[in-house]
Amino acid sequence: MENNEVKKDVVFSAIQPSGTITLGNYLGAVRNWVKMQDEHSCIYALADLHTITVRQQTAVMRKNILDAYASIMACGIDVEKSLFFIQSHVHTHAELAWLLSCYTQFGELSRMTQFKDKSAKHADNINAGLFTYPVLMAGDILLYQADKVPVGADQKQHIELTRDIAERFNGLYGNVFKVPEGFIPKNGARVMSLQDPTKKMSKSDENVNGCVHLLDPPEVIMKKFKRAVTDSEACVRYAEGKDGVNNLMAIYSAVTGQSMEQIENEFAGKGYGDFKTAVGEAVIEELRPIREKYEQLIQDKGYLEECYRKADEIALKISLRTLNKVKKKIGFVL
Ligand code: TRP
Repeated sequence: MENNEVKKDVVFSAIQPSGTITLGNYLGAVRNWVKMQDEHSCIYALADLHTITVRQQTAVMRKNILDAYASIMACGIDVEKSLFFIQSHVHTHAELAWLLSCYTQFGELSRMTQFKDKSAKHADNINAGLFTYPVLMAGDILLYQADKVPVGADQKQHIELTRDIAERFNGLYGNVFKVPEGFIPKNGARVMSLQDPTKKMSKSDENVNGCVHLLDPPEVIMKKFKRAVTDSEACVRYAEGKDGVNNLMAIYSAVTGQSMEQIENEFAGKGYGDFKTAVGEAVIEELRPIREKYEQLIQDKGYLEECYRKADEIALKISLRTLNKVKKKIGFVL
C-alpha cells in the first residue's frame, strides 16, 4: 500500500457505520470501491466520527463499527491492496476539522441541503456537529491529497465545498492541498426503498421491508422483494411513473449485468410475481458469499483488529504529513 501511494492516483471514500450496510450501500458504493482497488491507490474509511451527529447508543454503536468493518471486507475490500481504516482511530481527522472550520464560512454551511434535511428530521437535536459535518468530511479527503472521491449524489454538494475550502486555503498559503474531483460512479446503481421507491433505500426507513441489509438471511430478502411496491400495470418495463418496477429493474440489472431491454424481454408476458422472485433470487445469490465471508470474519476479532490497526497506523503517517504542513503554514509552532 505504501508504495502504491506514489504510483497511482489516490482515491478516497468513506462510509458511515451507523447501522448495517444495506443493499443500497453495496450496489451504490462499496461494490465500486472493490472494483477500483487494482487501478488506483485506494484509501477507505469507516467514518465513525460522522455518525454521532445523530444520537447513537453506546453498545449498538460499538457493534455497528465492527460489523461494518467486517461487512465491507467481506464485500471484497482487500487490506493488502487498499487502506481501510477507522476514522476515530486517526486523530488527524478531528484536528484538521477544527483548523478547516476556521476557513469555512457560516453562510456556506447554512446552504448545505443535507444539513437542512437532517435538521428538519432531527429537530430536537440540531447540534453544532451536524452543522460542521461537511468540514470534517473535507478534512477526511484533503488529509490524503486525494485525486478522486467516489460519492453518492447526495454528497456532491459536500465535495464542492471541499474544493472551495481547499482552493481558499491554497490561495492564502500556497499549494497545500490537492483539489479533489468528486464523481458519481456510472455503474453505481441508485437503489430506492422497496416500500417507497421515490426515496433512497435507507437503514432508517420506517418500514423494515423497504430496506434490504447485506446480512439479511435469504428468506428475509425474498420476503422483502415479494412485498416490494409495484404498480397495477402488470408489465415489466422501464418507464416514467413506474418507480417501483424501475427500481427492481435497476437492482436486477446491477446484479445480473443485463440491460433494461434484456430484462423487459426476459419477463415479457410474465407477471410481477415471477419478476420479484427472480430479483430476490439474484440478490440472494449475489449476497450469499458476502454473508458467508462476514460470518467467518466476525468470528475472528483478533484478525479484524490486526487489519484495522495496521491501516490506522499507515493512515496516521500519511495524514500527519498534510496536517503538519497545514499547521506550519498557518503559523503554529511545531
Ligand atoms: N458523509 C458521507 C456519507 O454520509 C461519508 C463520508 C465521510 C465521506 N467522509 C467522507 C465520503 C469523505 C467521501 C469522502 O455518505
